[in-house]
Amino acid sequence: MPYVPPPRRAAHQRIAERNERLTRVGPGTPMGNYMRRFWHPVAATAELRRDAELPVIPVQILGERLALFRAEDGGLGLVAERCPHRGAALSYGMVEDDCIRCPYHAWKFDRQGRCMDQPAEPDDNPLKREIRISAYPVQEVGGLIWAYLGPLPAPLLPRWEFVVREDYEQDVGISRLPCNWLQVAENTMDPVHIEFLHMMYTNYVRKRKGLPVIPLRKHKKLEFELFEYGIIKKRLWEGDSEDSEEWRVGHPQIFPCTAQVSYHDGWVQFQIRVPVDDTNTRLYWYNCRPRNAGQPRRSEVPMWENPWAGPDGKYIPDQLNAQDMMVMISQGDITDHSVENLASSDQGVVMYRRTLLEQIERVERGEDPLGVIRDEAKNTPWIDLPIEREISFGFQGVQASAAYEFPETERQKHEAEPAQ
Ligand code: FES
Ligand SMILES: [Fe+2]
Repeated sequence: MPYVPPPRRAAHQRIAERNERLTRVGPGTPMGNYMRRFWHPVAATAELRRDAELPVIPVQILGERLALFRAEDGGLGLVAERCPHRGAALSYGMVEDDCIRCPYHAWKFDRQGRCMDQPAEPDDNPLKREIRISAYPVQEVGGLIWAYLGPLPAPLLPRWEFVVREDYEQDVGISRLPCNWLQVAENTMDPVHIEFLHMMYTNYVRKRKGLPVIPLRKHKKLEFELFEYGIIKKRLWEGDSEDSEEWRVGHPQIFPCTAQVSYHDGWVQFQIRVPVDDTNTRLYWYNCRPRNAGQPRRSEVPMWENPWAGPDGKYIPDQLNAQDMMVMISQGDITDHSVENLASSDQGVVMYRRTLLEQIERVERGEDPLGVIRDEAKNTPWIDLPIEREISFGFQGVQASAAYEFPETERQKHEAEPAQ
């Protein structure tokens, strides 16, 4: 007989309603309205180079299908993908000066979404003046193309220190996850999973493969603090003193859903989660590392794929990033909070959900939510976030992703390389 829990209908209903409020991101939804108060990446610059043969790509964000194009002056336009004439996709359109023309009958739209030409219609057709499509501000910073889909005036695009520092170089890995953004973002608010998913499970798989095991560590204390841009997570490992940076400083979950994590020697990684729609999330693994002295600046931020499945279509159980994606995706397309059993070690997840609900209410009251920046002085020259210099657990010999290895291995490689 399957186990059937006792009926808790009222509580179940309440949690199910809250689940909807927290996870749905389409236009007009409470979370969708909140998410639209922030800039989000819609593409990497490497996906829309200036010399691209067809300088327009389809992008999807917050349940909206859009066409992102590079105009002839090098600037960017972001408009609704569906042509208002008979629905062909502008993402296959023709770029002409600073406008995009539909491939079907060549209606032309500018970067503000105004219809500028309908070549098959007489010049005095009043329809031309009336037609408008959605158009959104776009900015290109740090090798990413960022869009703002909310009410104007748009807030400032945050200048996070390691994204804009010229003495750093960046690269960006991209993963496409078939699940809701919240279960991806919550992973940051759940520090204890490191002991189990990344240590116990890693060793389980490695032992079965005949590989050496990694050292285990245990958390002694956890703390979560609200700050100006989100929540700071702090951890004290058993055996570390209270002076450890991971306990004194910690690192942030930048609201709404970006983690900033430090590895070692100045290597900082942003994990930027972008809700594509209710059941798809694009995850940017954005690495920033100090550039070696004398090394010339790269002309482009390189982009690479960070898959969650191997060539056999199965999860990759012994790669760090893929382990996280395995547990995020396997929770289901939108994980059902009403059948969870939250425990004491979920305190960070509980705080994150509660704070997000409070932020939705702020937006509903007409206020800016936590982390929206309108003051140039705060954004200049950059925003310096609290972050420990190094994480103190070891994954020697463990692959972090398809493209790079984890700290100790990286460090050994760096030390072996002659300084330039
Ligand atoms: S469908 Fe776009 S111009 Fe006709
Ligand atoms: Fe993880």
